[in-house]
Amino acid sequence: MLINDEIIFNLKAEYGDAFYLLDSEQFRKNFIELKDTFSAIYPNFNIAYSYKTNYTPKFCKIVNELGGYAEVVSEMEVELALKCGVDPRRIIWNGPIKEPEKMKEFLLYGGTVNIDSISEAEFIKNLAIKTNKTLNIGIRCNYDVNDGVVSRFGFDVEGNDFKKVLSIVTTTPNIHFINFQCHFAKRQVEYWTARVKGMVELLDRVGIIPERVDIGGGLFGKMADSLKAQFTSVIPSYKEYAEAAASVFADYFKDKNAKPELLIEPGSAVVGDCMKFVGTVKTIKNVRGKYMASVLGSQKNISMTGINPPMEVIHMSEGTYYEKLDFVGFTCIEGDVLYKNYTGKIAVDDAIVISNCGSYSLVMKPPFILPNFPVLDICGKKVEVIKRAETFDDIFHTFNF
Ligand SMILES: Cc1ncc(COP(=O)(O)O)c(C=O)c1O
Repeated sequence: MLINDEIIFNLKAEYGDAFYLLDSEQFRKNFIELKDTFSAIYPNFNIAYSYKTNYTPKFCKIVNELGGYAEVVSEMEVELALKCGVDPRRIIWNGPIKEPEKMKEFLLYGGTVNIDSISEAEFIKNLAIKTNKTLNIGIRCNYDVNDGVVSRFGFDVEGNDFKKVLSIVTTTPNIHFINFQCHFAKRQVEYWTARVKGMVELLDRVGIIPERVDIGGGLFGKMADSLKAQFTSVIPSYKEYAEAAASVFADYFKDKNAKPELLIEPGSAVVGDCMKFVGTVKTIKNVRGKYMASVLGSQKNISMTGINPPMEVIHMSEGTYYEKLDFVGFTCIEGDVLYKNYTGKIAVDDAIVISNCGSYSLVMKPPFILPNFPVLDICGKKVEVIKRAETFDDIFHTFNF
């Protein structure tokens, strides 16, 4: 996605002083590169894109077009995947709470449900007994990957509930036990080796090789060096994740006839660098020696706190030189600071362009103080409006006045 002063100036004139820029080309590249990197080590590999990270339909459709799965965690996201044209057999439903009637409908369509609780297992068992359709069922697994977290997701593979669920899915008629799944939130590469080791140990112990093994999401994506430098741990590359995880899997299966499909469920790793946020400086003031520029835009738009995101200033005029100026958001939250201690020229009307806004940003923007800004894709020849600006009615039509 090409950005320069002229492009931003023209977009501001047409779409207003704040908007997101969606980079569909980069998303496509990331998906292909990540898939190729893992496949080079273990060929029967695929990606299940985590919808919740950024469920912009354009991204979901690209995943589908490139042959990936949809990883969803709610009935809302199931509906979205179907609306994006995804075959139910390519949809994997995780998530701790699933609305039973929707789950039933989804299973009868051929979707995969990864069970996360005993009550879900009982419900599915009863459904399987009554139906003549085959239900695709997986189990979410939980074990120690030495990350210091007792995760709330999945079944403790050492526990009785796990045994019960495994027995249900392997002995109930009409249930096709399709995969084991796990997800751990910490993104450091060592936990990726640990999660795969945990999975292959489990396969060995229970003596089952399912059609797929799904090792979840939680990878860092690509980012500018200035952002990497603000993390306390190193940011692994796709290759480092693939070597840490897929190699263990490839090694385990090298002498076996079965080669189950290995899945990962990335969100941030493919979408993190696929959105920018553009805001405009509206006021500049000095309070007790500190310069502050108020921006149409907020931390709530970029979902990054406590760090200075990668930022570029697009000047609309000559501007004045400031030292250690903070860019602050439109909300009334004292701590709504988009960027701390900027030193350089700035003027009212200048635009700031913040990168790496692709994950957990648009989907987590609350309707707080202002409706959200439009989302534009400028990768093609024409500007594509991916999401129009929200209006007063978008926010208030569910209230009774
Ligand atoms: C089950 C599951 N899969 C995948 C993801 C995607 O994680 P990320 O965006 O960190 O890659 C999450 C995130 O919470 C998750 O809960």
